[in-house]
Amino acid sequence: MAMTPAAGGSKPLTSPASIRAPGTVNAEVEWDGFDPQAYIRHNYAELRDDDREILRRTRDFFAGAELSDACCVDVGSGANLYPTLSLLPFAHTIDLCEWSTSNVRWLRQQVDSYDTTWDPYWQVCAEHPTYAALTDPRRCLAKVGRVSQTSVFDLPTHAWDAGTMFFVACSISADRAEAERAISRFLRALRPDSPFAVAVMLGSTGYHVGRCSFPAVALVRSEVVADIATGAYDIDVHEERPRPQIRDGDVSMLLITGRARG
Ligand SMILES: C[S@@+](CC[C@H](N)C(=O)[O-])C[C@H]1O[C@@H](n2cnc3c(N)ncnc32)[C@H](O)[C@@H]1O
Repeated sequence: MAMTPAAGGSKPLTSPASIRAPGTVNAEVEWDGFDPQAYIRHNYAELRDDDREILRRTRDFFAGAELSDACCVDVGSGANLYPTLSLLPFAHTIDLCEWSTSNVRWLRQQVDSYDTTWDPYWQVCAEHPTYAALTDPRRCLAKVGRVSQTSVFDLPTHAWDAGTMFFVACSISADRAEAERAISRFLRALRPDSPFAVAVMLGSTGYHVGRCSFPAVALVRSEVVADIATGAYDIDVHEERPRPQIRDGDVSMLLITGRARG
């Protein structure tokens, strides 16, 4: 399924050279200029301590959530497979919903057979016995993973039993209202009581992927927690400070787990 971004209508066709600096809304950004390999080189080629801790906590949360044979979703998957891996043992299906055509292409290849880059991330998962019991995660993802070009703003309501959305609400626009709407659409896409994990970057005003710049919104912790609390309960919050910094400015990473109100 291919769905439209924030403002609806067709995707704007602009060359990567015309990508605007932070200050844009989601529908104005040329997401097809997103280079998944450059993004991975900068963020995930080496497993960082902050991502390790976030993955451990996400893993332990889902392992304790009494999930099985679930319809799962990862929203704005981009070029990061670790949220999807955290859902793998519990999944009947995992829908990876992403808007950028280049990332969708990359995700389809990775779902078929993911790169060794992601083996250390699976190793972190497999420190937990529930995950260790899954002996061939690569084949399992090929079986349950489904990639679709879907905007967070067009997600169906009450469609999934568990979900993840990592570094999306903060990083798809410079508009605070769009961040709030992305969180609300994500939580509403889950059935009542579904467990979820959301990660956001706090304090980010933009980021580079290769030679392209993308907008972000400098979220603050209390506002994000309040936005999540509107659509969720049993919330747990953990903050990580990446060292060295991965974006300009004084950023930190917030992981929020909980259950959707639906
Ligand atoms: C900073 S990246 C995060 C990628 C990945 N989830 C991660 O954890 O690193 C933001 C992602 O949101 C995607 N995106 C942008 N607009 C979107 C929209 N309207 N709906 C869904 N995804 C969108 C981008 O293409 C990009 O992959």
